[in-house]
Amino acid sequence: MGFGTYLIVVLTIATAVASPAANQIHLLMPHSGSAGKNHSGINCLSWRVAVETDNIIGWTQIPESCVDYVGHYMLGQQYRDDCEVVAAEAYKYAQGLNLTGDGKDVWVFDIDETTLSNIPYYARDDVAFGYIPYNSTRFDEWVASAAAPAIPASLKLYNQLIELGFKIVFLTGTREPFTVPRTENLKAVGYTQWEKLILKGVDENGGAVEYKSSKRKALEEGGYRIRGNMGDQWSDLLGSNAGDRTFKLPDPMYYIA
Ligand SMILES: *[C@@H]1O[C@H](CO)[C@@H](O)[C@H](O)[C@H]1NC(C)=O
Ligand SMILES: *[C@@H]1O[C@H](CO)[C@@H](O)[C@H](O)[C@H]1NC(C)=O
Ligand SMILES: *[C@@H]1O[C@H](CO)[C@@H](O)[C@H](O)[C@H]1NC(C)=O
Ligand SMILES: [Mg+2]
Repeated sequence: MGFGTYLIVVLTIATAVASPAANQIHLLMPHSGSAGKNHSGINCLSWRVAVETDNIIGWTQIPESCVDYVGHYMLGQQYRDDCEVVAAEAYKYAQGLNLTGDGKDVWVFDIDETTLSNIPYYARDDVAFGYIPYNSTRFDEWVASAAAPAIPASLKLYNQLIELGFKIVFLTGTREPFTVPRTENLKAVGYTQWEKLILKGVDENGGAVEYKSSKRKALEEGGYRIRGNMGDQWSDLLGSNAGDRTFKLPDPMYYIA
């Protein structure tokens, strides 16, 4: 049975026994999935490391033989721990900065798989953690539902940064017609304030690097200093005006050029 079916079973059992722990992106899977070489010759952990380091680029779907592995990774403790390490490192760095207090020190956050998690969508049988090719109709329906949970590590960092005096900028490749559900979704899960929420215009073409670079350039031209920039895709972090430091969250489910 697929992950979706499995999750329904887990959910049913979990609800009967106890309510799910607060602050969870998704219920944990009970085991972590092995990473060793497959009959197809792919070592899924090696594949994931190569993806995270931007050595494997331009891929359109996860290898079939790594669907289980990626699923276990995303639903297990390792993904959460990996996000915690990135957020903790970002906080350490942010604490060491001297803010001028003029309200121009900003932290740029991407949204999908950076501040909001699409795991409930990706765990579906018709998505299979990115093995089934991307379907914009289905994904748009999910975004419009505004039901994405927060990534706990990122929400904690967000609150810490605001406490330190940073202004928050959300910069997403989501298109402007989704401004209302995105706003509702962010607020519902605890991202209640920001300096700017930048979505991609319907007429804006070109890739993510070009789009995000141009928006960051405009921010800096507006007098903002990008002290930190966090995303799950290298295309959030490469290009011009990338920020004083960048932080890469894990995402073995999809690749955005
Ligand atoms: C190997 O491939 C099989 C079938 O594609 C899959 O079910 C299994 O989870 C894979 N094992 C690992 C370690 O990735
Ligand atoms: C911040 O300011 C303090 C006091 O002026 C100074 O000791 C420290 O080195 C500064 N830190 C950075 C990262 O500039
Ligand atoms: C995408 O998903 C929609 C809605 O589920 C479906 O009707 C459509 O056939 C799918 N498109 C492709 C190419 O699979
Ligand atoms: Mg993203």
